[in-house]
Amino acid sequence: MSENIQHVTVVGAGAMGSQIAMVCALAGYETDVVDIAQDAVDRASEQLHARMDRDVSKGRRTPEDVDAAFERLTFSTDRDACAAHADLVIEAAVEDLTIKRQVFAELDRVCPPHTILATNSSNIVSSRVADATNRPEKVCNVHFFNPALVMECVEVVPHAGTSRETVATAVAFARSLGKQPVELKKEVPGFVANRLLGALRAEALKLYEDGVADFEDIDTAARTALRHPMGPFELMDMVGIDVVYLIRLAEYEQTGDPASLPAESIKEKYEAGEHGRKSGKGWYDYR
Ligand code: CAA
Repeated sequence: MSENIQHVTVVGAGAMGSQIAMVCALAGYETDVVDIAQDAVDRASEQLHARMDRDVSKGRRTPEDVDAAFERLTFSTDRDACAAHADLVIEAAVEDLTIKRQVFAELDRVCPPHTILATNSSNIVSSRVADATNRPEKVCNVHFFNPALVMECVEVVPHAGTSRETVATAVAFARSLGKQPVELKKEVPGFVANRLLGALRAEALKLYEDGVADFEDIDTAARTALRHPMGPFELMDMVGIDVVYLIRLAEYEQTGDPASLPAESIKEKYEAGEHGRKSGKGWYDYR
């Protein structure tokens, strides 16, 4: 465990937030996962229990480790009460700058002065929320990948005003979770891994929209020629087409470059409510 951090609060109990919280609890941290709605918290608890049961039944974890982790994990709707004793807050809520700024301003008011405020966003760089707080030197991005229980990479991204101490603590924290930290020297929307992925996704969407190949065949090529574990369309379904859409829009807001806008086929799926696995249909049908 990281020596400066004992207690972690994760804000947002969606797919990312809940798994990030589980990773922290499994690594020995007292952890809260909080959301506004009780049903979001209940769903997170149910899904994490199912996931851990599966890991135990497959012999990947011991029942003792899992029980101990759940003892350390609190599901709550009282964000401020949790954040008041956090050493690190990881915000994994909706990709909306106005909401994030408000959340950071509120966290700044309730957290102790030493608390690091991190956002898991891959697209909203932390300089855009840091000035909503009185502790910009303790604000950075700490970015996990989906599914956070499995993926090893965690990007640590400082803004120009983040202190070296904050970066060092965040990197040590990521390592203490058993993750592989990747430290960026400066902010860029998307960071490293998502920019690589974005280039692949943009090309895949172009090939599809130009009628060069069906999306299933493009996925097959990525899996069998490049040995990617999933093709770009399967991956969009797993990450969420709504997430992909909103990330593109956020990037457009930051760059003003029309090339950042979501592809036409993504916009159509987003508007049709075909958001991927979680909605039962995206590129593929899961019903
Ligand atoms: N949550 C937790 N664990 C999961 C999971 C999930 N949603 N899905 C799969 N797993 C784990 C389970 O342990 C599973 O084993 P069981 O089914 O026996 O329990 C194991 O992974 C293997 O799963 P599968 O057999 O279903 O499929 P797989 O071998 O293809 O592995 C995968 C699944 C690990 C997700 C793999 O396909 C993979 O690595 N895909 C690429 C994921 C990726 O690129 N992620 C980055 C996305 S970009 C991002 O996250 C950025 C962002 O900002 C949003």
